[in-house]
Amino acid sequence: MRITGKGIFGPPADLDGAIRVLRRAVELDINLIDTAESYGPHVSEELIAKALSPYPDDLVIATKGGMDRPAPGRWKANGRPERLRAELEGSLRRLRLERIDLWQLHRIDPDVPEDEQFGVIQEFIREGLVRHVGLSEVTVDQIERASGSFEVATVQNRYNLFDREWDDVVEYCESHGIGFIPWFPLNVGKLDDGGELAAVAAERRATPAQIALAWLLKRSPMILPIPGTSSVAHLDENTEAAAVQLSDEQFARLS
Ligand SMILES: NC(=O)c1ccc[n+]([C@@H]2O[C@H](COP(=O)([O-])OP(=O)(O)OC[C@H]3O[C@@H](n4cnc5c(N)ncnc54)[C@H](OP(=O)(O)O)[C@@H]3O)[C@@H](O)[C@H]2O)c1
Repeated sequence: MRITGKGIFGPPADLDGAIRVLRRAVELDINLIDTAESYGPHVSEELIAKALSPYPDDLVIATKGGMDRPAPGRWKANGRPERLRAELEGSLRRLRLERIDLWQLHRIDPDVPEDEQFGVIQEFIREGLVRHVGLSEVTVDQIERASGSFEVATVQNRYNLFDREWDDVVEYCESHGIGFIPWFPLNVGKLDDGGELAAVAAERRATPAQIALAWLLKRSPMILPIPGTSSVAHLDENTEAAAVQLSDEQFARLS
């Protein structure tokens, strides 16, 4: 999302920089990249293919469909089956893939019957266009209803040290073996709490961003953080967070 233009619209201001970030991620052995048809729109998927295709064998590119972009900064769910199919075909073409390893429904569209949205997703799986399916910004009830139509591999909801609204979904995912992908894992970079986060960061000689990610990694073994960045320096810093293991006491203080 951060390798596109202002308002997640159009090309990034620094195109070469965006390509460098993508290539550095693979160099660092990162094997999951989260994107969406609607980021740019299309710009993020095109850049990923430009920078990384042909892809390393173990790289999972998780994309999403089901969101219109009427203008910069504006988002509108669109779960009409024909639109979902056209978007999926576009994602496959742009990403230069024959199958999407993880395709996520960006939002369940409240204006389209769930059966129609879930039904076309079943077709995607049957046709071999999609390997695993994820949902985004969903309740436990919605996950359970979708699970009647296909196996829900992942759930992507907003979640970080400062925002625990979806704690119940994290618990549900953990007990059902569903990957939980927290979006805004860095609270959009707003990490200056002047309290425990700063204190633990000082104790561990780490940055607040690294501690926020380390907290997520300790929060649940099912959590897959996807910190967004347009900067190689931040990417390096965020990757190093994987080596920061918080003590139970530090985790409790932060929690
Ligand atoms: N499913 C959904 O509805 C949904 C919604 C929003 C986002 N997402 C996904 O979640 C991903 C992450 O979300 P996000 O990028 O919006 O938020 P985020 O990861 O919480 O924060 C990213 C912001 O923090 C800055 N940042 C990154 N590393 C930093 C560091 N080490 N120190 C200080 N600042 C740092 C970035 O700026 P720099 O570019 O300068 O590093 C960027 O502005 C997106 O890329 C997207 O794939 C999904």
